[in-house]
Amino acid sequence: MLDTLNRPATAPATPGEPLAGPPAALNAANHWVPHNIVMRDTWFPLAHATSVGNKPVRRAVYSHSYFLWREHGKAVASEFHPGETPGIASALTGGTGRFPVIEHYGYVWGWFGNPAAADPIHLPSLPFLPPNTSLPSHMIGTVRFDCSAPISLENLIDLTHADFLHANIVGDEQSESENVEVFFDTETITMVRTCTGKSVAPVMKFFSGIRQPTQNIRQVIRIYLRSHAAIAYGRFSPGDDVPLFHPCVPETRDRTRLDYAMNTSHAGFMFRHIMPKASYLVSRQDSSMTSPQSPRYMRDTKRRDLHSRFDTAGQRYRLLMQDLVARQAIGDFAYRDNVSADCSDIIGLRKELFRF
Ligand SMILES: [Fe+2]
Repeated sequence: MLDTLNRPATAPATPGEPLAGPPAALNAANHWVPHNIVMRDTWFPLAHATSVGNKPVRRAVYSHSYFLWREHGKAVASEFHPGETPGIASALTGGTGRFPVIEHYGYVWGWFGNPAAADPIHLPSLPFLPPNTSLPSHMIGTVRFDCSAPISLENLIDLTHADFLHANIVGDEQSESENVEVFFDTETITMVRTCTGKSVAPVMKFFSGIRQPTQNIRQVIRIYLRSHAAIAYGRFSPGDDVPLFHPCVPETRDRTRLDYAMNTSHAGFMFRHIMPKASYLVSRQDSSMTSPQSPRYMRDTKRRDLHSRFDTAGQRYRLLMQDLVARQAIGDFAYRDNVSADCSDIIGLRKELFRF
């Protein structure tokens, strides 16, 4: 099984004539097929901890089954349903049938890759989630996307889409000023967008009691590349913080599971209860864009996947993912940057609101 995963993606990114002229990096960014991205040696947030009890539940990563349940209260992850005769265990479990598993931030995380390399140090930093307990049920939920996980994340990190697609929830495109910055290392990419005098988010107009017409916002998207997991953290002033954990687990190469968690404990009653559930509405709006997009990568076309200078974050995301894939293809699975280091300062977390 690992042999198959180790193989580099050989399918041409977009069938047709090769591009001549543009820099190699841009060529690679334009010619990628998100379905060919398979990441190894990483933790995936497979389930909310509260969803895992004594009865097994099934999850999947790249079509590999993960059965989750608890033994004496401790979460386990197996390749096989405990009630069935086990098959031959794969290299993903070192022949034991059991995946490395860890419970943290209210999630059960399963390791995908070489089990000997599993280490809590590779768990993404999520500083707005309580490390050892679960959020109440109204702050968590599950949605699915009929698209490849990198498409969902690429859509997310281009935050300007929200002004158009989610205008009825987070506000329209009108603002006095807008600035976008992008930071990255070999394992993460972070996009920070600041706007002044932006139309107030309707959800805050109605549920946080914001009366003035505009607000200043600071929105951060931080993606942990290997885990396909993102932080979406918005600070609205006046207004409430919106700290969302947005994992995109690749159940298959073209289907994504999002067990989200939004910690609104600091906010007033209405916003605290309603905002996390707005994810169901928001995700349908996203899905209306990304689900038709996904199968287009399978079609034979000479059309190029073009971009503009406003797509810096998305382009960088593609290049970083391709760098990781290229390294893994030659057997290099080492982490060059630490994903578990506290990212509070990077995302500009208002720490006083999230003390655990
Ligand atoms: Fe969206």
